[in-house]
Amino acid sequence: MQRDHLTSGVPQKLPSKDLLQWDQTLFKDERYFELDYIPEHFSHRETQMRALTIAARPALRGVRPINCLCSGPHGTGKTTAVLKVFEEIENYTDSVVPVYVNCQIDATRFAIFSEIYKKLFKYTPPDSGVSFKRVFKKITKYLIDQEKVLIVALDDINYLFYENTVNKVLYALLRAHEVSAEVKVGVIAISSDLSVEMSKVLDPRVMSVFLPEEIYFPLYKRAEVRDILEDRVRHGFHANVVPDDVLEMVVDLVEESSDLRVGIDLLRKTGVRAEISARKYIAADDVVHSHEKSRLVHLTYSIHSLRAEERDLLKLIAEQEAKIKAGDLYKKFNEETHLGYTRFYDIISKLDSIRLINTDFTGRGTRGRTREIQLRYEPEDVFSVLAGMDT
Ligand SMILES: Nc1ncnc2c1ncn2[C@@H]1O[C@H](COP(=O)(O)OP(=O)(O)O)[C@@H](O)[C@H]1O
Ligand SMILES: [Mg+2]
Repeated sequence: MQRDHLTSGVPQKLPSKDLLQWDQTLFKDERYFELDYIPEHFSHRETQMRALTIAARPALRGVRPINCLCSGPHGTGKTTAVLKVFEEIENYTDSVVPVYVNCQIDATRFAIFSEIYKKLFKYTPPDSGVSFKRVFKKITKYLIDQEKVLIVALDDINYLFYENTVNKVLYALLRAHEVSAEVKVGVIAISSDLSVEMSKVLDPRVMSVFLPEEIYFPLYKRAEVRDILEDRVRHGFHANVVPDDVLEMVVDLVEESSDLRVGIDLLRKTGVRAEISARKYIAADDVVHSHEKSRLVHLTYSIHSLRAEERDLLKLIAEQEAKIKAGDLYKKFNEETHLGYTRFYDIISKLDSIRLINTDFTGRGTRGRTREIQLRYEPEDVFSVLAGMDT
């Protein structure tokens, strides 16, 4: 009855009917704009791909591969390069098992070894009741019995720099062969945090077995950015959807943010916006509007990786009018959360290393040098991302 009442008097031509005519889409294939899409054409990274392949090659002969450390700013193709090499390895042989771990998600030794376990046995070890030791033993036994070589990629390894996790993880992986010489494990560490030197974070006894081949991923040059985005446009949109001047605008904005992801995300958003306006092409105006959202991609990505109390501290920092001394900030944080100084300090280091805040020494303080904490983003942007997460 209610429904009859609601539908009576509704005009015959519903607006939603137009919205449903999505065969009018500008996109040939929207997948090309998803950030985890692995591009078929991966150009401008030949040197890095070659270095990764050469390092993995011993594994194909049943020998321990060469460890690697891939570093470079965000959006320079590190994750993609490693995933592509892994794909090649898997197509070529099953005697080498590549395991990709995203340390933003799996940030403890147990979680990381669970990922390895899952890849080898096709199911997850139970969360409780199984010790790390048992999981580790089953993994090494499997590798020996099946004569397989393991390559583990630890992506965004900087997320393991707290609470000494990185040393525990690398120690277990790299010294696995001490259990038995037949265990062969290689590690590919990937880091976007250029402010931290691995050699400073790692224990000497870990460093002495890690000895990675360093592979650097520099920022793409302007012409390279254009080339990569042009490729996406060609595959993802129908012809003539993106005029040259619009593409140039997007390239400009990638240069400004120095993150290719901003450009890829922007192309998708502008496409959606042009579609909604029922246009057959993307206009400069779409870029201006959509950029407002895309520029927060990095911030959103980082904030989503934080735990609740880490977000609380970030919010507290955003609420400060100006720089704040670490000691003063701690007092406020402690009042709110009752967490101790060690945890506070760990969170500060984490927020610093993922580039959400700056922590500079003042050079002066009552008891030696003090740190001053400052947000690297506009407070409004941080609040808006945090608010978006609550919903
Ligand atoms: N050379 C390239 N060709 C095509 N797409 C690329 C290239 N380099 C990076 N990308 C794309 O840019 C985005 C960021 O790359 P990613 O590998 O995640 O960078 P990083 O791990 O260094 O932050 C991904 O969507 C990826 O597909
Ligand atoms: Mg990455």
